[in-house]
Amino acid sequence: MNLHRNLQGETPLDDYSGLKLRRVKTREQLNAAEFLNNYEAFSKYLNRKPTKRMAPFTSRWMLRLHKEMFSAVWVWAGKIRTTDGLNIGVPAHQVETALENLARDLACWREGEWDLIEQSATLHHRSVQIHPFLDGNGRWSRLLANIWIKQNGGPVITWPTELRQATSVIRDRYMEAIKQADKGDIALLVSLHRQYSE
Ligand SMILES: Nc1ncnc2c1ncn2[C@@H]1O[C@H](COP(=O)(O)OP(=O)(O)OP(=O)(O)O)[C@@H](O)[C@H]1O
Ligand SMILES: [Mg+2]
Repeated sequence: MNLHRNLQGETPLDDYSGLKLRRVKTREQLNAAEFLNNYEAFSKYLNRKPTKRMAPFTSRWMLRLHKEMFSAVWVWAGKIRTTDGLNIGVPAHQVETALENLARDLACWREGEWDLIEQSATLHHRSVQIHPFLDGNGRWSRLLANIWIKQNGGPVITWPTELRQATSVIRDRYMEAIKQADKGDIALLVSLHRQYSE
């Protein structure tokens, strides 16, 4: 199966045993299948303002969101990875606690006056840094941030399609922004969120 590609910052995935779709033989077919599945979740949460009941931003719901995005394609959708073989992410056994801490912080942000785009960039970075899943962490963290924005009355972010291309200026800027945020400077990621919010 030719499913390999070199996308900067992509979680290296070479175990396809969790793939549910036998008809998927190429990376393009996989991308399309994932996109269709992701789109269902986008529509569910972004077509209208999601209520707190619908999107409670608890750790359980955050895991469920990944399941909603990928369960048509991968058996491990919504499941915390069991390995630490990635060069990124908190150790697998700490993922649950890290998500609970994030959920607790989000509940405090609701009460405060903090700029919504700074919140969305911080949520995006913290969630992708936890890296709960085998794959799809980037797309999940960007949707989480968008649901947060929509629920709090802000303009959602439309990321350019080039963001997921192997070589593109936006991919380079995006990865640079994530790496700066890893070092404690969120400014570039905030400016990308502002640039692409409607
Ligand atoms: N070296 C790194 N340092 C910090 N963050 C990284 C690094 N490599 C990858 N990431 C983060 O991990 C994400 C990729 O994770 P993963 O492949 O699980 O998600 P995805 O949804 O398939 O990817 P993408 O973000 O390309 O849509 C990137 O978007 C980036 O945020
Ligand atoms: Mg990936």
